[in-house]
Amino acid sequence: MGKQARKIVGVDVKKLINDLNKAYCDEWLAFYSYRFMGQVVSGAGYEDMAEFLNKTADIELEHSRELADRIVELGGTPVAQFGMIEKNANVAYPVPPDKTDDYNAIVSTVLAAEAAAIDVYQAIANETFGKDHVTHNVVMHILSEEIQHEEMFENLGLVKQEVEPVKKEAVTARY
Ligand SMILES: [Fe+2]
Ligand SMILES: [Fe+2]
Repeated sequence: MGKQARKIVGVDVKKLINDLNKAYCDEWLAFYSYRFMGQVVSGAGYEDMAEFLNKTADIELEHSRELADRIVELGGTPVAQFGMIEKNANVAYPVPPDKTDDYNAIVSTVLAAEAAAIDVYQAIANETFGKDHVTHNVVMHILSEEIQHEEMFENLGLVKQEVEPVKKEAVTARY
């Protein structure tokens, strides 16, 4: 990033790069989980569910690219080691359910990941509002798509119970 561009960023750039990098890791975890579930899903209507999951996975991968672009622009480097992705993420890996035809469990997994993503982007949007318009725009674009994802999966009407955002501590217990 050029001198002037760096000067106009009204936030702690190091912290911002770190926050974006954590979100970048979240995106890879969501991408992998959704893609995996899209590949193995079975049962009646599996083709529709597979398409749904794979399309959403593609968008999560796009988010990781958009975040990487902004991290590089800010003078940072996206996480290079794959083993660091899970360690550095805000949230734990959205663990796919064992039963590949359990749509309720699949959708709950997606909804918990999306709720966590919404919290993460809301926080970065607040942090950058009025201070770093470029990052703010990137984050608002991603946030709006996470909101769409939550709505799309909620509208399937498969999950009746409250779904909590996926948290690191909560998921460690599942291993
Ligand atoms: Fe995403
Ligand atoms: Fe999403």
